[in-house]
Amino acid sequence: MLESKVLLCLFFVVRVGIAIASQNLCNVIVFFMNRENFSHFYHLDLIYEYKSSLFSHPYVQAILVLSEYHRLLVANASQNHDKTYDNRGALMTQDKRDASELFYSFFSLVKPRQVREGGVIDEWMAHVLPHSPIQELAPNLWHVTGILGPTPREMVIYKLADSALLIHSAIALDEAGVAQLESLGTPKIMIVPNRIHRIDAKVYKQRYPELLVVAPEVAKPYVKEVVPVDAIAEELLPNYGVVCHRPAGIRPQELVYELSLPTGKALIFTDILFNLTDSYLDRYVPRNKLIFNFLGARGYFGITALGKRFFMTDRITYREWLKKLADCLPSLRVISVAHGEPITTNCAERLREAAARLS
Ligand SMILES: [Fe+2]
Repeated sequence: MLESKVLLCLFFVVRVGIAIASQNLCNVIVFFMNRENFSHFYHLDLIYEYKSSLFSHPYVQAILVLSEYHRLLVANASQNHDKTYDNRGALMTQDKRDASELFYSFFSLVKPRQVREGGVIDEWMAHVLPHSPIQELAPNLWHVTGILGPTPREMVIYKLADSALLIHSAIALDEAGVAQLESLGTPKIMIVPNRIHRIDAKVYKQRYPELLVVAPEVAKPYVKEVVPVDAIAEELLPNYGVVCHRPAGIRPQELVYELSLPTGKALIFTDILFNLTDSYLDRYVPRNKLIFNFLGARGYFGITALGKRFFMTDRITYREWLKKLADCLPSLRVISVAHGEPITTNCAERLREAAARLS
């Protein structure tokens, strides 16, 4: 095994050397994009799981992403050579769709590290990363802030009419967190909101076998790669009083969930709006503020620069959709996003503010 890795590395170094010597960058890229050349790597788990190995090296990961990108390009090309349209008919060019695929592919590679207890892998504990206690947002609604790599992330917990719990974008909790969760009710439904936010879904299903795993129709093929999907969000959730809003002007990827609270409504977003305020970053990832500055995601409520690049298909359509959502929900009391401070005051105004950023 070690020999084959050494040989592969040698092959890699020699091939890069030849390509660079010939000053043919395309040659390098085309080579790396050929999945077959790196098929060995594909049988291995990446990033966290092999933290100390060659495969966690950023350059190796970049190659893997390029290879995956190429695979997707080939798959797309074989399926459709023409222009594609989103679910509202907005045009998505092939370029934009492929760029989005690359973006998604990169984040889909993130996997948890392994934790061994007496030689046995404890899968749940392998997924537990630093997180806050469960905190109340409103009656029947709570959130947890976790930290995954450089990024803070949010899980939302909602008490359904039957007192069971709905979990959105699950984060594996430490034992105190699990006890707190179970004191609120029995986990019944878990929404895996898109193909990126699936990292802890499998261990939740293992821990709570009765949990109904739900995903938007468009995300199901990707979510089921890690955990079986029991139901489509758009079909199941209305039975529990949850309204599923399909964003307009956004690449089909995720839904926005409207929850009824005793005091009004809550909207649960995932990646199409961020709210990485300075106070939130200071609290959870104070050393990473510059990263989010660089990514154009720091200090405001709205779609990020990356979101515009990879998720948004039509700026005006998305802006008008956000405004309409704010107008339709005058009793909006909470807005939650997967990355950022939950909003609990002036929610409709804040949503209009996010829309206005697209003017
Ligand atoms: Fe996200």
